[in-house]
Amino acid sequence: MEKSSEPVVAYTARPLRRRPHGYWFITGAALLSLIALAVFPQLHPGVLRPGSASSSTDQFVSHSEQSEDKNSPYGRFPLKDDPFRFLPCTPTTLPPPLDDDDAEQTWASRFDPDPDHWSWGTTQGQEEEGISKGDPYAGRGIFLCGYLDVPLDYTNRSDSRIARLAVTKFQVSGLARVGELATNSSAGKKSERTIVIEPGGPGGSGTSYAWRVAENVTARFSDSTFDVLGWDPRGVNASLPAIACFPYDASRDHWSLLSNLHYAVSESPRQQLEFADAMNAAILRACWEKHGDLGRFLGTGLVARDLEQIRIALGEGELTGYLVSYGTGIGQTYASLFPDSVGRVILDGTEYVRDHRLRGGFGWTALDNATDAWHDGFLGECVKAGPEYCALAKPKDGKPVTLSGLEARMNALMGSLAQRPIPAYLPASGPTLVTYSALVDNMYGALYNARSWPALAQALFELEDGNATLAASALETSAWYYDPEAPCLPTPATGSDVELGTLVICADQYDAKDPDDLDWWLSLWGNMTTKSWISGNSRLYNVLPCRHFLQYWPDPVGVYRGDLNHTLRHPVLLIAETYDPATPLRNGRRLLQEMGKNARLLAHHGYGHSSRDRSQCTERIARAYVLNGTLPDEQETACYADKKPYLYDVEHKVASLDVREPKDPLKVWEEHLVELSFVNPRLRHVS
Ligand SMILES: *[C@@H]1O[C@H](CO)[C@@H](O)[C@H](O)[C@H]1NC(C)=O
Ligand SMILES: *[C@@H]1O[C@H](CO)[C@@H](O)[C@H](O)[C@H]1NC(C)=O
Ligand SMILES: *[C@@H]1O[C@H](CO)[C@@H](O)[C@H](O)[C@H]1NC(C)=O
Ligand SMILES: *[C@@H]1O[C@H](CO)[C@@H](O)[C@H](O)[C@H]1NC(C)=O
Ligand SMILES: *[C@@H]1O[C@H](CO)[C@@H](O)[C@H](O)[C@H]1NC(C)=O
Ligand SMILES: *[C@@H]1O[C@H](CO)[C@@H](O)[C@H](O)[C@H]1NC(C)=O
Ligand SMILES: *[C@@H]1O[C@H](CO)[C@@H](O)[C@H](O)[C@H]1NC(C)=O
Ligand SMILES: *[C@@H]1O[C@H](CO)[C@@H](O)[C@H](O)[C@H]1NC(C)=O
Ligand SMILES: *[C@@H]1O[C@H](CO)[C@@H](O)[C@H](O)[C@H]1NC(C)=O
Repeated sequence: MEKSSEPVVAYTARPLRRRPHGYWFITGAALLSLIALAVFPQLHPGVLRPGSASSSTDQFVSHSEQSEDKNSPYGRFPLKDDPFRFLPCTPTTLPPPLDDDDAEQTWASRFDPDPDHWSWGTTQGQEEEGISKGDPYAGRGIFLCGYLDVPLDYTNRSDSRIARLAVTKFQVSGLARVGELATNSSAGKKSERTIVIEPGGPGGSGTSYAWRVAENVTARFSDSTFDVLGWDPRGVNASLPAIACFPYDASRDHWSLLSNLHYAVSESPRQQLEFADAMNAAILRACWEKHGDLGRFLGTGLVARDLEQIRIALGEGELTGYLVSYGTGIGQTYASLFPDSVGRVILDGTEYVRDHRLRGGFGWTALDNATDAWHDGFLGECVKAGPEYCALAKPKDGKPVTLSGLEARMNALMGSLAQRPIPAYLPASGPTLVTYSALVDNMYGALYNARSWPALAQALFELEDGNATLAASALETSAWYYDPEAPCLPTPATGSDVELGTLVICADQYDAKDPDDLDWWLSLWGNMTTKSWISGNSRLYNVLPCRHFLQYWPDPVGVYRGDLNHTLRHPVLLIAETYDPATPLRNGRRLLQEMGKNARLLAHHGYGHSSRDRSQCTERIARAYVLNGTLPDEQETACYADKKPYLYDVEHKVASLDVREPKDPLKVWEEHLVELSFVNPRLRHVS
């Protein structure tokens, strides 16, 4: 139990502090431990805030574990008239079930009055200062958890069903102690604007994303003056109802070796397509059996309406947002539906949602720059960085490595892998395989985040050398949804980003006009993999299930089909990257073309998906926009990443004169997979 309740995404840039977990890490197993926790709170060390403050705070905050008094030194939560019903986050602040007739009461009873159990922001030196002044929480932000009920169907008043959206907010001003408000009117208040964030997917969890990046986002874009709020879109993660079409994660996994087979290793692509298609038919049937007409209510048009409800609940006249990847699709749809509500909205890693109306569009529109990213980036920057920083640049047979030589070596390695998988043994999982398909999908995932490159280069180098251990370990890390190390409990799966993602993508292209027979799909598969052997397969499998969508949900609700050129209250800022493996710059430019004066584009020259390859120039423009509403005059501005892959931390090391201690590649890879789980959850788990 202990293991499954570890926060998977809890590590921020400052890993020393472990968060006392919001609901985002609650797995089925953890739920049982929550029940245990309610009965025996002392059994669960994770709930006590770790770190030096825990012990020292006891001197200042009087509280008692068994206290029936639900008043804290900060008063009682939720506050009256708070539409999100925020409580300071603890492990129990999960939205109440939909069939709970007294949901508000259930929710209120989850308030834990002990501030030492809450998730406060990092201290940045204020903790010591605070302690000396008698208050360890003074001047610290806090994570608040809440939920918002919205109509499942905005277009049908006689349908009373709701979606219950989980939200997590980082409030920069923290909380005000009882009585403090009289002396300091800004403590514990919401900020003037709230930066609403969405990481992508479809299927990425906005609440988990908030836990991971909220403090960084408010620092980056608003000098830590604006609150940050993330929500789980309908069907996702802690929002209810949660979508999963397999009763157990293990059932989903047992298909996976066969279901993601790549074109290059399919004896007969046609037969493989028949297999995958039959399996998709079975899965969508299961979605129907389990969720009935819910599949009608998950499209991006309804998600955008939910976002408007969030803005209204925030009480802000216009939306401030940082929406990434598929989140930019939500943003484009939002701007078109609610042009008068658009405030300072950044769309980073820009899609062009019009493409997603076409058959397979979500797949084929993503391919432009993945191969370049592999060639110029992963391989090219490796050679430039040299053997000290990239294993693949180590001289081979005494000869220095050239880009063309390295590319030929990798082609040979992949060619031999396509002939036959490489067997491996791992103490943790026993017998295992390095397969072509799994490796290429992982290579594709690596292109999203150049920080993963040294680890992947090390794994490929060793694999080439006949040692498959590291490669197999890296693949195992992402292979399964089911965690074989978790205790065997009869716990059904919670939400699944795979099936949810499918239903969203398919709803958005429901009325596509292209033919839909397997011959057409076979031709598309060939074309996509010709264009990009790295991303073509993964992207095809994202869209192929849509063949079976209309059979069950012919009339998805609220899908947006209008133009994207509405006159907005305020122009949006698009950021698109030259080497983005998922949202090519070309798409950002096409969107800009359509939006005209209602947008500006930052062409961000760098590697990876969205602007994670940091550029001072991009940061400066984005901050001026979010803080002041100012935009470049030019339609398009170029910005260049500050550093090169493989060399991100080099100066830092030199400066601190520490002996170059290589990072554990598996640790680097695990961190990368967490990052990936937000923007493309389906790549987080590949066969
Ligand atoms: C939400 O997402 C987090 C991070 O991916 C995961 O650990 C957690 O189990 C999810 N919670 C639910 C209720 O699905
Ligand atoms: C509206 O909701 C009612 C009640 O659920 C349902 O009977 C009706 O079919 C719905 N109308 C449409 C157009 O979906
Ligand atoms: C008032 O509260 C804000 C937000 O917590 C804090 O930044 C500020 O320092 C406080 N001012 C005083 C005078 O305590
Ligand atoms: C945000 O995080 C990035 C990468 O983790 C880091 O380089 C940057 O300095 C952080 N920015 C702020 C303002 O904290
Ligand atoms: C990205 O793809 C486009 C084709 O759509 C191409 O023109 C451009 O050169 C590519 N970018 C890079 C950096 O290779
Ligand atoms: C194979 O690689 C693993 C992981 O990098 C390493 O620990 C091990 O020592 C290597 N084995 C041999 C025989 O070199
Ligand atoms: C694949 O490419 C060929 C040649 O360009 C084209 O004729 C065909 O229509 C494409 N197939 C699909 C499904 O787009
Ligand atoms: C949007 O573009 C369409 C053509 O696609 C045009 O007819 C319409 O006038 C434009 N609307 C605005 C507000 O510019
Ligand atoms: C915002 O505007 C103020 C006043 O014009 C200016 O001093 C400040 O530098 C601007 N901030 C940014 C981030 O551009």
